Amino acid sequence: MALRSVLTGVGSYLPDRVLTNAELAHRVDTSDEWIVERTGIRERRIAADDQRTSDLACEASVKALAAAGRDAKDIDLVIVATATPDLTFPATAARVQAELGVTQGAAFDLQAVCSGFIFALSTADNFLARGQAKAALVIGAETFSRILDWEDRGTCVLFGDGAGAVVLEAREDAGERGVISTFLRTDGRMHDLLYVDGGPSQTQSVGKLRMIGNAVFRQAVEHISGAMLEACARAGVTLDEVDWFVPHQANQRILDGVARKLGIAVDKVVSTVAVHGNTSAASVPLALDIATRDGRIKKGDLVLMEALGGGLTWGAALVRV
Ligand code: UT7
Repeated sequence: MALRSVLTGVGSYLPDRVLTNAELAHRVDTSDEWIVERTGIRERRIAADDQRTSDLACEASVKALAAAGRDAKDIDLVIVATATPDLTFPATAARVQAELGVTQGAAFDLQAVCSGFIFALSTADNFLARGQAKAALVIGAETFSRILDWEDRGTCVLFGDGAGAVVLEAREDAGERGVISTFLRTDGRMHDLLYVDGGPSQTQSVGKLRMIGNAVFRQAVEHISGAMLEACARAGVTLDEVDWFVPHQANQRILDGVARKLGIAVDKVVSTVAVHGNTSAASVPLALDIATRDGRIKKGDLVLMEALGGGLTWGAALVRV
């Protein structure tokens, strides 16, 4: 029997500090009305000064392990999808591995910005399906508050901090459950639409996030829809058969635009953008956790996740949970 990667647990973590639109309106020339109307975002979380991306990742991972009924000793692969690592190196995943008490297998970071979790899930699936690992922690964790230009109203109102994690286990007796198909895509020609203007090699600094928002928006609906259809086609599944859509949470207008384009009922789309903002690689597992814990997503449901982000990168993953 072929090995399949089964999602056995999910967890998430949000920092305590809530930053509202009203507070942002005191800092930059914006308003709650503008932010809600153009993005759907009402508030976002901001990590404490002494909280690192790895701390957020560990909090989410502990919950995912508990949900899976697993222990650190069971894990032999840790992938942290992040664009805001603790340090330039070593990988944030190395610190997460040590903090959790995982003492076997590999741990590495994966950099695909907002698409990071989908890329990491697909990567882990390939490791597990080839028998190169038995149980993976796949984490999306970000502290985007550290790379925002707090004077740029076009970007600082959009992003927040947080983390989400899943446990993925290789099983021969998975039945219908598991990662069914994934689709990943990068088009580096759109590099300059969304980037951070610093880095060790080019500027020897960390830099700030820069985005041509409306240009990214124009790419988003088309590429996200295409990725979702491709993931379904690879699995021989139609969109009607999907129980839940768990999108990257960048903008409610993008979620609505994709749903409209593909004819998806909005009540099947998990939306957390109002209270999380855009948490980059953390947003998909965060939304997955919220909808699992509140009872919407149940064992055996067919879930389609998708994301688009800097690179540009985009992708989708079809999973029977
Ligand atoms: O997660 C990675 C992927 N990222 C995304 O998917 C983000 C995609 N982009 C977006 O979500 C939207 O493009 C934004 C929310 C970023 C912007 O919305 P938009 O409807 O595309 O607005 P715009 O950039 O075309 O700007 C329209 C106007 C401009 O003013 P003028 O030039 O028309 O006078 C902006 O300066 O809105 C202005 N503006 C703001 N006004 C008040 C931009 N940001 C703000 C703001 N408050 N925070």
